[in-house]
Amino acid sequence: MTLTIYSNPNHNHKRLLDALRQDYEEKYSRSKTAHAAAQQVLVDGISHGARSFAPYPFRITSAQGAHVVDLDGHQIVDFWQGHYANILGHNPPLVRDALQAALSQGSGLQTGIPDEAETEFAQLLAQVLDVERVRFTTAGTLATMYAIMLACGYTGRCLVVKVAGGWHGANPMALKGVDRSNGGFDAAESAGVSATVSEDILVTRFNDAEGLRELFARKGEQIACLIFEPCMGGAGFIPATSEFMRAARELTAQYGALLILDEVITGFRYCASGVQRLYGVKPDLSTFGKIVGGGMPVSVVVGRADVMDCSSSKATNRVWFNGGTFSAHPLSLLAGQTMVEYLRDHEDEVYPALAAKGERLRKGIEQVFADRGILARCTGHGNDVVVGGSLSSIYFPRQADFYPQCAEDFTDPNLSDVILRERALKLGLLLHNVNIVHGLGAVSTCHTDQDLDAVFEACDAFALRLLREG
Ligand SMILES: Cc1ncc(COP(=O)(O)O)c(C=O)c1O
Repeated sequence: MTLTIYSNPNHNHKRLLDALRQDYEEKYSRSKTAHAAAQQVLVDGISHGARSFAPYPFRITSAQGAHVVDLDGHQIVDFWQGHYANILGHNPPLVRDALQAALSQGSGLQTGIPDEAETEFAQLLAQVLDVERVRFTTAGTLATMYAIMLACGYTGRCLVVKVAGGWHGANPMALKGVDRSNGGFDAAESAGVSATVSEDILVTRFNDAEGLRELFARKGEQIACLIFEPCMGGAGFIPATSEFMRAARELTAQYGALLILDEVITGFRYCASGVQRLYGVKPDLSTFGKIVGGGMPVSVVVGRADVMDCSSSKATNRVWFNGGTFSAHPLSLLAGQTMVEYLRDHEDEVYPALAAKGERLRKGIEQVFADRGILARCTGHGNDVVVGGSLSSIYFPRQADFYPQCAEDFTDPNLSDVILRERALKLGLLLHNVNIVHGLGAVSTCHTDQDLDAVFEACDAFALRLLREG
């Protein structure tokens, strides 16, 4: 059977989007009122752009396991899962009980005085991540900023190489070439950042080893670091090819630059460590966040002692990776340690189970659309290094042989139907109580076969509607 391909980049699905929007506003009516109130005081009615979408985000009253409940009382299967932080689902009893016990014993809030728990968690991380030094902070954004500052301080250079579409938080030292629609991948992302800082950021193409070689040949002596995610969130969780990872390690070493792997999403997502372990690559520094905090705000920079120690008070030319009233917050570290210990001790159950669920989801979605005669594919099937795991995005190729390799591919409206993926599918599935972000998201250990079946039914209903109202 020949599958329908949405090959016309000028088709904007207006009729479908209008109809979906109307149905969404009816179904999520209380959230509409709540959003209007939120907009009076919160910029755009939210505190993080990724939580918003047109016409307005639904608001929730509770979250447990694979599900959230919204103001209108719908039980929604959620694949956003706390920006992919909640690998054990929302509010896992394991972490909640540990936090409740600490609070009931009269501890948990910030003291600002070191305790042994901080050392214990650092020791655990040093062991599972196989690193010499660990320093805690509170957000992935700060972790990547400090890692880049360390690289610049250590090398005495100021050029930062990142890949197009790579999101390292709103860290000014990597805030360029993130969002194609924001001036293209060469553009500085934000007003308010000095032009000099932006000029020092060089943007290259993910999975293009040759392009990376050329860039290092031209600028290598001035490059402080190369930073990228081993599986790119902004490119639908596409993994680095082993060739690109090898080139990244070899070129940085050859030119005296540092390799920083941003594992804020990938850390503890594919195995009870960084995904770097699967690649067999040792970066100079890496950053972790999300899962590592067990649902609380924790992030970490880890890596080589000689680089990390540039932030020591004893360092002659100190990098000011320092401060943070809430760094090493006791409850946050307790949540993080509880989570990481669990994942370490249950690695053989958790990750194969997640991979199996992810694969059932991906294959099932592709089949549902194919059964209705539509070509839709999922990213996340993995490559020769990273087996298919729990992260995926659905996309609608404009040509049968399109398989994205980088953000330039994934976000190009000429190569896949971005409006369908980013806007229509989101509303279409929410009408059937399934919440996805950027085309899908993350499976947790709590998602059951029934939850996955709910996705298949929602995709089927969306496919029918697309054929009707496309
Ligand atoms: C790869 C990556 N790095 C850094 C960050 C920033 O982390 P945070 O939102 O905790 O500041 C994110 C957040 O989404 C991320 O995905």
